[in-house]
Amino acid sequence: MSLTHNSTSINPIFPSILSTNYFNLESKLNTFQENNIEFIHLDIMDGHFVDNLSFGPSAASSIKSQFPFKIDSHLMVNNPAKMIPKFIKAGSDWISFHLEVVENSDVLPIIQMIKTSGCSVGIALNPDKEIETVFPFLDRIDFVLLMSVFPGFGGQSFIPSTLERIARLKKQITQTQNNVLIQVDGGINDSNIHDIKNAGADLFVIGTFLFNSEHIKETLFSIHNKLIPGV
Ligand code: DX5
Ligand code: ZN
Repeated sequence: MSLTHNSTSINPIFPSILSTNYFNLESKLNTFQENNIEFIHLDIMDGHFVDNLSFGPSAASSIKSQFPFKIDSHLMVNNPAKMIPKFIKAGSDWISFHLEVVENSDVLPIIQMIKTSGCSVGIALNPDKEIETVFPFLDRIDFVLLMSVFPGFGGQSFIPSTLERIARLKKQITQTQNNVLIQVDGGINDSNIHDIKNAGADLFVIGTFLFNSEHIKETLFSIHNKLIPGV
């Protein structure tokens, strides 16, 4: 199961390592690599935008030094303009920043900063941020990250109203003929991913459901089966 981004096909499952037990992270990453995972989602938290701290740029550079994964850096930080260059230098391939913490006049310069580095650029919205706020930027970005939990911690439950938000965003993307992917992040598992896909989502950030699994191969297989159209 894959979809295209910039005319290359990508595996739509993006494991988030936020909830990982660091002592077995390497073996989990090896298993993801054996199972054709292409992207690792890094939840970057500064303790201000969210009430938690997580990784710095070295998490991206160390994964890139050992594995072939692309790094999707989700910046849950108060000052993304300051952090973005560090995550570009560390080897991120995709970078998303939250609209909640950027003045409208700063959005385009931040998009430009990410794009000129060669990274794909995404705008992230919390569950209570109006979908319409990202509409003016759909012709400039590669993806929209719709949070389906309030950011800060893994293992939370999927917020059901996200499905309607996905559908509304998908409708706007289709009507304006923009080539923007919808990434959903938070509380995703094999019992809700089918509905999330059907609502219009393209990419799925999954943390706890994958990292709690003792049989990642089978878990990934069951997830991919739920993504097959018409199933
Ligand atoms: C929450 C993070 C999510 C989260 C996903 O702030 O942005 O990526 O880690 O993990 P689960 O799948 O455990 O909700
Ligand atoms: Zn995330």
